Amino acid sequence: MKKFSVVVAGGGSTFTPGIVLMLLANQNRFPLRALKFYDNDGSRQETIAEACKIILKEQAPDIDFSYTTDPQEAFSDVDFVMAHIRVGKYPMREKDEKIPLRHGVLGQETCGPGGIAYGMRSIGGVLELVDYMEKYSPNAWMLNYSNPAAIVAEATRRLRPNSKILNICDMPIGIESRMAQIVGLKDRKEMKVRYYGLNHFGWWTHVEDKDGNDLMPKIREHVAKHGYVPPTDEHGTEASWNDTFAKAKDVWALDPDTLPNTYLKYYLYPDYVVQHSNPQRTRANEVMDHREKHVFGSCNAIISAGKSSAGELEIDEHASYIVDLATAIAFNTQERMLLIVPNNGAINNFDPEAMVEIPCLVGKDGPEPLVVGNIPQFQKGLMSQQVAVEKLVVDAWEHRSYQKLWQAITLSKTVPSASVAKAILDDLVEANKEYWPELK
Ligand code: NAD
Ligand code: G6P
Ligand code: MN
Repeated sequence: MKKFSVVVAGGGSTFTPGIVLMLLANQNRFPLRALKFYDNDGSRQETIAEACKIILKEQAPDIDFSYTTDPQEAFSDVDFVMAHIRVGKYPMREKDEKIPLRHGVLGQETCGPGGIAYGMRSIGGVLELVDYMEKYSPNAWMLNYSNPAAIVAEATRRLRPNSKILNICDMPIGIESRMAQIVGLKDRKEMKVRYYGLNHFGWWTHVEDKDGNDLMPKIREHVAKHGYVPPTDEHGTEASWNDTFAKAKDVWALDPDTLPNTYLKYYLYPDYVVQHSNPQRTRANEVMDHREKHVFGSCNAIISAGKSSAGELEIDEHASYIVDLATAIAFNTQERMLLIVPNNGAINNFDPEAMVEIPCLVGKDGPEPLVVGNIPQFQKGLMSQQVAVEKLVVDAWEHRSYQKLWQAITLSKTVPSASVAKAILDDLVEANKEYWPELK
């Protein structure tokens, strides 16, 4: 069986240990010869890498492991780049969330003005990774989680049209796992779904079991009462995420024929989100206090003890999806997966140049998108507006245009007026000086 070389870009990410553990658990179907970490913050990466080195030595001493901040070393001789960078890290996420809230607008990692600000930082970072990959390993594939995936995907479609990058999201699979639990199935892979939309902006139209039985009625009945909060919570979901899963009940009510992505709450109930936000303590603060402390604490414990049992690192679904995708490409499995791809006619009555999230069959040449057909006016209207926002952000980045960025923020359904958009934009420009191109 062929063995692969993988570089994790954003080696210092809180998600890196989960991906390493998932890779180790899948050596029978996606074997590795080498694993590298790359990050532009050497000291953040070192903690994660030194802990992973101990885990790898215990479980798979044959895998050649190294970590570096040098792009040439990192990107040479690799088959896959698994990317999850956060340009500006959590302190900038905190600003993305808190600045709009000062103006009465919701503050979110990937939605609304916060997501737009993050997009303006991410585009350059991700393009840099694509360029390193093409220079040092031109045959490699990049599987990219780096957010905001919708804006990053539009940027790579337009600015690196021939690059082998696939942009992905774990939200649909997280929701599908909850659906599986609601109908009493062990695994979301026992379901077949049809779904369409944009990243963090989509709807399920069909959910069936392996025998073709329609599972939608039972899921709908549950979502109408409890959203995506399952009968028992096996994962110890944090309160803020639990609220989002519960609010799916009200999002669903707008179009009871379909089942919604949880992120639609930010577009359909922005007033509710603002009322339930604490402008002094946002999700970035929760993540820094919980996930970041937990992951780095565990890594430090593993390093001091010299053994993996000293930490509490977990495998998760987020990691399983990227490993499934790599396996599908590596072994031409034709697995059916939701990916962010150019529409190109798949949604018949929608912009062929929009990046949409739809089911694809995945094999050695990448994704083969499946036909969706025509979508209803409600979804089409919402999606057209949001695609325009995402395209305007990429216009703004490409042409260094303040005007386009003002238009983008004004057009976001989360923002009430052009004057509010301008006030937010001016604060964001100031906060992002170090990361955004200078706007004209
Ligand atoms: P994190 O801050 O813990 O990790 C990000 C790492 O990227 C940091 O170590 C940072 O130093 C590094 N980095 C930043 N800019 C870089 C650059 N230009 N080159 C190389 N490295 C760089 O963040 P996290 O919470 O672990 O999340 C990582 C990323 O994964 C974020 O973009 C997040 O939004 C994304 N994510 C996406 C999904 C999805 O559904 N697509 C799911 C989960 C996380
Ligand atoms: C989901 C989304 C990701 C997003 C993450 C935020 O997994 O699909 O795109 O980055 O949630 O989670 P956090 O715990 O960092 O708020
Ligand atoms: Mn996502």
